[in-house]
Amino acid sequence: MLTRRQFLKIGAQFSAVAGAALIVPQISLAERIGGGRPEHSLMNRPFIAPLPVPRVLEPVGQDATTDYYEMTMRAARKAIVAGTQTPIWGFEGEFPGPTIVARSGRQVVVRQTNALDVPVTVHLHGGVVPTESDGMPTDQILPGMTREYVYPNQQPASTLWYHDHAMDETGLHCYMGLCGFYLIQDDVEDALPLPKGAYDIPLAITDRTFYADGSFDYPAIDGDTLLYGAMGDTILVNGARQPRLAVANRKYRFRLLNASNARPYELALSTGTPMTQIGSDGGLLPAPVERDTIRIDAAERVEVVIDFSAYAVGTRVVLNNLLGVGGLSQIMCFDVVREEADDSSVPSQLRTIERLDPASAVQERNFEFGFDGANGLWTINGMAYDHHRIDATPLHGTTEIWRISNGAPHHPGSNTGLFDPGKDHSHPFHLHGVFFQVLDRNGEPPPAWEQGWKDTVSVGSQEAVRILVRFDGYAGTYMFHCHKLEHEDRGMMGHFQVVTDEGDHEPHH
Ligand code: C2O
Ligand code: CU
Ligand code: CU
Repeated sequence: MLTRRQFLKIGAQFSAVAGAALIVPQISLAERIGGGRPEHSLMNRPFIAPLPVPRVLEPVGQDATTDYYEMTMRAARKAIVAGTQTPIWGFEGEFPGPTIVARSGRQVVVRQTNALDVPVTVHLHGGVVPTESDGMPTDQILPGMTREYVYPNQQPASTLWYHDHAMDETGLHCYMGLCGFYLIQDDVEDALPLPKGAYDIPLAITDRTFYADGSFDYPAIDGDTLLYGAMGDTILVNGARQPRLAVANRKYRFRLLNASNARPYELALSTGTPMTQIGSDGGLLPAPVERDTIRIDAAERVEVVIDFSAYAVGTRVVLNNLLGVGGLSQIMCFDVVREEADDSSVPSQLRTIERLDPASAVQERNFEFGFDGANGLWTINGMAYDHHRIDATPLHGTTEIWRISNGAPHHPGSNTGLFDPGKDHSHPFHLHGVFFQVLDRNGEPPPAWEQGWKDTVSVGSQEAVRILVRFDGYAGTYMFHCHKLEHEDRGMMGHFQVVTDEGDHEPHH
């Protein structure tokens, strides 16, 4: 399915490798070689690999309204662990895939070709898009086929990402590398004096486990992996192991994405100084928020400005993970290597955000996230995913309150005795096709940094989070699910259908 040109390109990069023949690594116990990882080689020490920044994809065409892109999902190899080449699946053979930079109000069309040997779908996470372009798990691109996705970008500047969403296999496919950034820019943000260009860097944090031969060790979804999701033992940022970024002593904007299958992180700087959060899933916050530590659950985005002018040249600033031990406790480092003038700043007001009014809500719905121990399935209101079932039918243009609860003691199906209290039990709850605002968590109003537009919200153990959703995107059927991908792949997913008075499925925008 690879074109001859692509084949030759892979062949040139990885001459020892038959590019077209790469498949997912076979996972057998015999291949698990304990202690076989070359821990002492240079490359496997933290802060050796330079931080890669995914390249920006060039459009293949443009007209008055639209930028056209083409991508091919294919197998490739990537040097991640010393002395090995890791088989990956990547958009354009890259992990993370190339970044699409879109303009708010200007349409993007992406032609995606599947040169892998498994069916895939492509979902734009955070995209307000017609349902045909949402990459629903059942809307597959079969091997060798191409599909066109239309993204209207009628939404403000924000850090989105695209990833595979194949039925029951999203966890494996994302682990193999099928994800990338999709940034939307707009005039409001451009007018602000925030760090720009080379000082505006996306950071996709993932965790992976490797076999001794360098291939990814994606676990079977049972035991702890079923309960807590796939947990890797090695941190990668933009596909490189605990990388190092050489910085000037000035401000940088970092677009943090937790692209891990399941692992949450709590980020803090080794210097003890705060980071300035300026944005969340749906773009800029109303005002910056100083944060000493930042918890980021799977699929969430947090945008921060870090000011390195506080440090002398020669200082190393480590981005730590307070939820991790050993190698999982350090994400990456910033080495302050030079002085540089800085004309950027973080204004005290970033943009205005309309606060949705709970009094305007026409419905309140309850979603209890639970576990069906008997069947090994994750459930919402006691039910595992069924692609024929619609769980909610909100009316287009109206606002609803959705209450998502995690492990409510009265839930008959919940079997909390199964769970290790020392582990993370959050469910990062995600809605497609719309943004929402957090109304309260266990009755308390959200902190300032959670008052922007969100598409994913972390619902911790014994928590109930109420969100306000205005269904003002498109009519049609969309998904909602837990973004711990192994929970999603094992049932924790549902549909809502945005309906109109006329009962049609036309886009109303
Ligand atoms: Cu990242 Cu269904 O989404
Ligand atoms: Cu999504
Ligand atoms: Cu979950």
